Amino acid sequence: MDLNALEGRARSALDQAAYDFIAGGADDERTLADNVAAWQRLRLRPHVLRDVSAVSCQTTVLGTPVSMPVLVGPTAFHRLTHPEGECATARAAAAAGTVMTVSTMATISLEEVAAAAAGAPRWFQIYVFTDRGLSAGLVERAVTAGYEALVLTVDVVVAGNRRRDERNGFALPEGLRPANVDLGPVVPDPYRVPGSGGSELASFVAGSFDPAVTLDDIAWLSELSGLPVLIKGVLRGDDAQRCIEAGAAGIIVSNHGGRQLDTAIATAEALPEVVASAGPDVEVYVDGGIRRGTDIVKALALGARGVLIGRPVMWGLATGGSQGVQDVLDGFRAELALALALCGCPSVADLTLDLVKHGL
Ligand SMILES: Cc1cc2nc3c(=O)[nH]c(=O)nc-3n(C[C@H](O)[C@H](O)[C@H](O)COP(=O)(O)O)c2cc1C
Repeated sequence: MDLNALEGRARSALDQAAYDFIAGGADDERTLADNVAAWQRLRLRPHVLRDVSAVSCQTTVLGTPVSMPVLVGPTAFHRLTHPEGECATARAAAAAGTVMTVSTMATISLEEVAAAAAGAPRWFQIYVFTDRGLSAGLVERAVTAGYEALVLTVDVVVAGNRRRDERNGFALPEGLRPANVDLGPVVPDPYRVPGSGGSELASFVAGSFDPAVTLDDIAWLSELSGLPVLIKGVLRGDDAQRCIEAGAAGIIVSNHGGRQLDTAIATAEALPEVVASAGPDVEVYVDGGIRRGTDIVKALALGARGVLIGRPVMWGLATGGSQGVQDVLDGFRAELALALALCGCPSVADLTLDLVKHGL
């Protein structure tokens, strides 16, 4: 799978502002680059002379069987890249035998996305809005529509400084809006210098997202939904511990794909600390810069239950619609199977910490 070439094709297919919105990160994009580089820096210590005549990528996530430990992460605005938007992605995830996480900022309603791949497992990503009623309404709809877990994203208390979007004056094209929420009035963002231009997304965040979200909101969402709540955006062991004590069912180690706090630690580097602190009974996931089957092997060897994919899904959608996303997901599965075989591991359960060489 050549994800660089795929990104190149997506870039040609999209207008500059849409491409930059997806590809870009915060400020100088150090974390964006480091996410990819940190997986690449790790080196593998493969086993030999083990029977790998049958290799399986199958596992479970929160008890749900999946064909591989690779999930579709939540990304906003899929109709920015393809008219079938999130419905196309949902069909691809179902065909690939994995979970799709649907973003609150989806451009198709959460009910329609659910109906597009009825019976497939899916999670719903949520933000805590200043208007708690808005979040509660979404949660109730997600429960009714059969979503199996909530992913509470906690690293967007305010919008990161996405300079490409500011430069482009990023705004959704005419006729394209978030379909799940009627966001409040667009307000000036207090973290931006007046007159510096602006991104519509930063204004959404400033107008609607609650910077006063705390650990108490985990129990609130858990009781309200009756669903497992995973906390996405954790980079420290102590925070993971506090989330679990507050009722989190799982942790997603993430820095939002380098789109929030620039120079935040790469997720490959944060993962071991979070795994150690979460203990053996809580599932830990990781996203950010996963581009190869070997990256997945490293993440699982370091203790992750699975990985989530952001941008490559968008490149697949932009270039090939549902089939394009499925090709990306199938590509990850094929690369994972190959990496497992070459590591002497017939299953993902055989991936242990000693496969990764530390201290480079
Ligand atoms: C275009 C784009 C939109 C995103 N939208 C959301 C979102 O709505 N909710 C969320 O929790 N994370 C969002 N993210 C972050 C992703 O879930 C994920 O953390 C990140 O993309 C993973 O890194 P990767 O793109 O290197 O795979 C978005 C990321 C991108 C690239």
